[in-house]
Amino acid sequence: MGKAILIYGSTTGNTEQVADVVSKGLSSASWDVTVKNVAEVDMGEIADYELVVLGCPTWGDGELEESFIEFHANMDEATFKDKKVAVFGPGDSELYPDTFCVAVTMLESKLNECGAKLVAEGLMIDGDVGAAADEAESWAADITK
Ligand SMILES: Cc1cc2nc3c(=O)[nH]c(=O)nc-3n(C[C@H](O)[C@H](O)[C@H](O)COP(=O)(O)O)c2cc1C
Repeated sequence: MGKAILIYGSTTGNTEQVADVVSKGLSSASWDVTVKNVAEVDMGEIADYELVVLGCPTWGDGELEESFIEFHANMDEATFKDKKVAVFGPGDSELYPDTFCVAVTMLESKLNECGAKLVAEGLMIDGDVGAAADEAESWAADITK
């Protein structure tokens, strides 16, 4: 398998926890995985990877996690056209029923606009991320196919 980068943003650590599960899943499917906080990612380095996985929780009233805002604004066709991509993010449908995991949808629609190839449906984790480890693991298996 080729090189993959998993880019995450995480204010309270939940997305980071899921990122760990997903990256292990990719590694065990023989992908060479780099995991980075979105704040440390340079758009230019994405060219080095065959697969890009984005992990972003929804914050505020249906907004991207803070550190993803600049990245999202800089996403372009030059970086993402024909790139294999997948998006995951935790949220809470009980507390935020109207904006549940909209960050995942926002990133996916931006990726579509940029001409990227979504390799799996976005993973939206509802509530406790610890309880969703199996779900994250099987999603990771899906995107490696
Ligand atoms: C102030 C606040 C606003 C939130 N807004 C939303 C929201 O609009 N939609 C949603 O699905 N989840 C929302 N959440 C839930 C978070 O997405 C969830 O707690 C997530 O696991 C946080 O991820 P992180 O620990 O990686 O930052 C919100 C949580 C807080 C504390």
